[in-house]
Amino acid sequence: MTDDLKSEPQRESDAAFWDARYQENHRIWSGNPNAALVKEVAGLTPGRALDLGCGEGADAIWLARQGWQVTATDISQVALGRAAEQGTVAGVADRIDWQLHDLGASFPTGSFDLVSAQYLHSRGDTMPRERILRSAAGAVAPGGVLLIVGHSGVANWEHNHHPEVHLPSPEEVLAALALPADKWETLVCEEHENIRTAPDGTVVGHTDNTLKLRRLPD
Ligand SMILES: C[S@@+](CC[C@H](N)C(=O)[O-])C[C@H]1O[C@@H](n2cnc3c(N)ncnc32)[C@H](O)[C@@H]1O
Repeated sequence: MTDDLKSEPQRESDAAFWDARYQENHRIWSGNPNAALVKEVAGLTPGRALDLGCGEGADAIWLARQGWQVTATDISQVALGRAAEQGTVAGVADRIDWQLHDLGASFPTGSFDLVSAQYLHSRGDTMPRERILRSAAGAVAPGGVLLIVGHSGVANWEHNHHPEVHLPSPEEVLAALALPADKWETLVCEEHENIRTAPDGTVVGHTDNTLKLRRLPD
């Protein structure tokens, strides 16, 4: 299943899968914002931001610290609870609205100056990623930016190796968005190497991709 609506049991099992994944450890991500987000957003004027698949909230918290008013969403209540705690510790609770969504079934309302999807990957092929990313484009305000960062090539998640997941190139992501060329400008469409240290100290290398698009003003 890719772009079809999911059945209720499937939605429940995806949420349960991610809750269980987060419960494996008190923290599963580094706690640092993604390097590609920092690089690509640093020059933008803060406004309203939407973070899709926010996980434990490091990106949303970083955005809030830069002055963005953030809506951050994830399918996992466990992750969101953890993220909200960190947001409070960071003193930015009033700048982040944490929302529980299975993005294959519901999507945050509103229009945003930045819509960011950082490593919005899931197990198997149960998440309709292309459809979600088209909704993401639809949520970008005129003049705003859509930033999609993900893995290219073969996934090597330590605990959840799912070779059936297709990890598209940035060009494939762009093509799947099917955006009208006269309304969008491509700012970045490239692969890059991402070497990071996992919470357990393991050094992990991926080929990642960045797609950064601007919706032209009306
Ligand atoms: C690989 S993690 C990335 C987390 C975070 N963006 C980061 O870069 O650290 C993917 C995230 O997407 C979330 N996710 C998976 N399927 C989802 C769905 N259908 N709707 C919303 N979030 C989903 C997971 O719970 C997880 O937090």
